[in-house]
Amino acid sequence: MDKPLIKSARFVVSNSDVRKCPVDNRPEYAFIGRSNVGKSSLINALTGQKKLAMTSSTPGKTLLINHFLVNEEWYLVDLPGYGYAKRSKSQNEQLQRIINNYILGREQMTLLFVLVDSRHEPQKIDLEFFHWLGENGVPFAIIFTKADKMGKVALGANVKAYKDCLLEEWEELPPVFVTSSETRMGREEVLRYIEDVNATL
Ligand code: GTP
Ligand code: MG
Repeated sequence: MDKPLIKSARFVVSNSDVRKCPVDNRPEYAFIGRSNVGKSSLINALTGQKKLAMTSSTPGKTLLINHFLVNEEWYLVDLPGYGYAKRSKSQNEQLQRIINNYILGREQMTLLFVLVDSRHEPQKIDLEFFHWLGENGVPFAIIFTKADKMGKVALGANVKAYKDCLLEEWEELPPVFVTSSETRMGREEVLRYIEDVNATL
């Protein structure tokens, strides 16, 4: 039988300061994207623990950098979402600072997963974010979320349209995954990809 992809997963620490993140140099994979896109839910689906990361139907739930240790080997990192219009300007600026300091300053961040909602066409805020990642040389992959909310045909069409849009700016596509935290679609693909990257480190 294959080795289980997840042997253990546990919460380690939450904080707002990248300097207070774990200092053990294990590789880490961070999840970012618009508020409510499903970052925390996907971390729970990947690890198979419903309540590991806090989720909410109201946007703006995750406000800190959250480290979860998987298999005692690598971290999943749940970040606050961006682009939640109902937050105050100063709170949005503060969260943006936390996110930017983490993404640009965290040497242990092996890869950033950027989550986008599979139901929507490319949003300006996400495209600008990809652009910013490119300018800063941040390695990233894209995860489409909430695929269970779409029919198969519409889902395929949306993903294709999204890729076409990215190819207008990028020569090559980053790795792309299509997921659902409800049905666990895409779970194995994401976990195997992480294992493959870990094996190269
Ligand atoms: P913030 O922490 O606020 O930035 O949000 P988040 O990106 O962590 O989103 P979260 O995981 O809290 O999920 C937001 C809402 O979407 C919750 O009501 C989830 O139940 C729902 N949701 C997340 N993923 C899926 C999915 O794959 N399918 C369905 N149907 N609902 C989902
Ligand atoms: Mg969250």
